[in-house]
Amino acid sequence: MGQTDRARPLHVACIMDGNGRWARRRGLPRTAGHTAGEENLAEIVRIAAKRDVGWLTVFGFSTENWVRPKAEVRHILGLHRRLFGRIEELNEHNVRVQWIGRPFDEPGSRTPVAVQRAIRQAIADTAHNDGMTLTVAFDYGSRAELARAAALARRDGAAVSEGAVASHLYDPSMPDVDLLIRTSGESRISNFLLWQIAGTQVCFTERSWPDLDAAEFDAALALVGDGA
Ligand code: IPE
Ligand code: IPE
Ligand code: MG
Repeated sequence: MGQTDRARPLHVACIMDGNGRWARRRGLPRTAGHTAGEENLAEIVRIAAKRDVGWLTVFGFSTENWVRPKAEVRHILGLHRRLFGRIEELNEHNVRVQWIGRPFDEPGSRTPVAVQRAIRQAIADTAHNDGMTLTVAFDYGSRAELARAAALARRDGAAVSEGAVASHLYDPSMPDVDLLIRTSGESRISNFLLWQIAGTQVCFTERSWPDLDAAEFDAALALVGDGA
């Protein structure tokens, strides 16, 4: 697991935190921080695709984030449409898009149809790329993912083994995470990829997500032995 297993492509996951504080420090509304965060994600995708990163999984919006003020949620939803709309750029960098989160047809799903459409379109329009896989976690919560996986495994009638749970995660083809980066000084996991980070190297950095740059990203990569 993790550091020693270099037979498979490197999997980096990011908890993109600190957009609000980034904006506050500049006297800007929180929404401006989210916009800067989306723009920096595009930059980090470009950087990661150039490095030895096979999988980049980012926490875009959690099942817990729906309680934020309506206007902020609306802004973040718009930014996800923008993110999933960056097809040309993603194709240019040979990046395949995936999504994990509460399935749209499940009770409790709150993902607006326009965002669902953008997600489906991005997946379809980048499916042919064989470089890095960018997985965006949107309306994602790890406990919900695990409870669902266990329920599905049980429905199959087999014993609820590790293998059975793993094969019913939102994306069973996703490898374990090698490196988890959380920005903005919080040392929390916040219900992200609990199963997939069992043996992961974790890097907590003080930088806000909009300020995470190539040097900081490379320093984190060096922790798992993969420099620029
Ligand atoms: C991360 O930044 C973005 C989302 C959770 C959607 P925050 O909005 O949590 O920023 P802080 O933590 O308040 O600074
Ligand atoms: C985690 O950040 C979720 C995302 C980055 C999308 P939060 O800011 O929501 O996490 P907590 O509430 O500080 O744990
Ligand atoms: Mg936060």
